[in-house]
Amino acid sequence: MHIAVIDGPNLNLLGVREPERYGTVTLEQIRTTLRERAARLGVELSFFQSNHEGALVDAVQALRGNADGALVNAAAYTHTSLALRDALLAAAVPFVEVHLSNVWAREEERHRSLLADLAVGVVAGFGADSYLLALEGLSAFLRRRGGAAPGVVRV
Ligand code: DQA
Repeated sequence: MHIAVIDGPNLNLLGVREPERYGTVTLEQIRTTLRERAARLGVELSFFQSNHEGALVDAVQALRGNADGALVNAAAYTHTSLALRDALLAAAVPFVEVHLSNVWAREEERHRSLLADLAVGVVAGFGADSYLLALEGLSAFLRRRGGAAPGVVRV
């Protein structure tokens, strides 16, 4: 089972960016913890982060046929990007929307997600643990569903 982890703008600065809100764990440390958990779950992970909307669209498009599922923290693009929404619709790969912070406890502009209704589920508010919880949830979902995602060719 292959799950892609896609992170959006400013998440490369985790650890130094607003630590009182996002914590002091870096994106690299999150990836290390995810790798450890994934190994126990028998899941293969790949990682991508970009600050650029088009690059994120490309990464989401590339999920089709290459990944069984995805964890997506689109950061601020969650609230603004119709392009990412369209890419997720086109990719048709089950994904979990992830946020470190509880976006509904923040400014109103962050209450709206253009992606959430397409997601299997949303995990928000648990800091770096949101990624681990999302991984557990998505791998259980994919196992329950069984088989590969449409378009994923097993050799
Ligand atoms: C975030 C929440 C977004 O509103 C914000 O723009 C981010 C990070 C989170 O993980 O809490 O950059 O996605």
